[in-house]
Amino acid sequence: MLSSTNTSARLPPSLGDFTLNASFNASLSAGHDAAAHRPVAAVKGIRKYYELGGEKRWILRGVDFHVQPGECVILSGPSGSGKSTLLSILGCLLTPDGGELIIDGRAVEKLPPAQQALIRRDLIGFIFQRFQLIRGLSAEENVALPLALQGLPAAEAKRRAGELLARVGLGDHRRAIPTRMSPGQCQRVALARAVITNPKLILADEPTAALDSHAGAEAMNLLRALVKDSGAAAVVVTHDPRILEYADRQCHIENGLLQ
Ligand SMILES: Nc1ncnc2c1ncn2[C@@H]1O[C@H](COP(=O)(O)OP(=O)(O)O)[C@@H](O)[C@H]1O
Ligand SMILES: [Mg+2]
Repeated sequence: MLSSTNTSARLPPSLGDFTLNASFNASLSAGHDAAAHRPVAAVKGIRKYYELGGEKRWILRGVDFHVQPGECVILSGPSGSGKSTLLSILGCLLTPDGGELIIDGRAVEKLPPAQQALIRRDLIGFIFQRFQLIRGLSAEENVALPLALQGLPAAEAKRRAGELLARVGLGDHRRAIPTRMSPGQCQRVALARAVITNPKLILADEPTAALDSHAGAEAMNLLRALVKDSGAAAVVVTHDPRILEYADRQCHIENGLLQ
């Protein structure tokens, strides 16, 4: 049975000084209840283009989207419709060309890069199609890495990583290196790495695309359990109709807009 990872990941003091977006000030000042009900992440009128042959190609043309605590939203759409682009914007990895991004009440696009990096480190967990585990590190070291980046001593980070690996059914694989593990096991390690810091927002880009149907179902069951257990919000991009059943809500993106 999974229980809250409760890694005591705390925001560094510098995060407490953010200037909050005006539209969120009212709800924040309404107190704790309002904070519990406000979206973990919200975008409003988000626009993004890429340049191709000197011309602007608009990929997102004014997208509105939000995700609440404890909610698992599945984002679908044709290949090239901008799903990964939207996920990268939500993850503060890509700067939009217009619109607002608010994570946990903070207006991200107005923040300097160093503070955006703190939001990524402390509030967001990422899961990728190809796992993106570090090959030379063991499962335990991979999972411990986000805690080490937060400054936790290595021994304590490893201890917590080992506990979490046991909870995702990989207690016997702590010292295994990713190249010796099955794709399904690798994705479970990646899931553990994504949640070890107890993030408020989990972003997954096609997390089952490299897995067979059994391992895909296992990964989604685990992701859902981790989301429900921790109260985090999850946004899962997928092409895979089999995983729609895991959604609390589905959104479809096409022609640069959410349908
Ligand atoms: N860095 C980039 N430079 C130029 N074009 C890009 C870049 N990243 C993505 N694109 C293009 O933008 C479109 C949307 O990409 P993406 O968000 O990856 O779509 P999806 O994840 O829905 O398949 C695609 O046509 C893609 O080729
Ligand atoms: Mg994509």
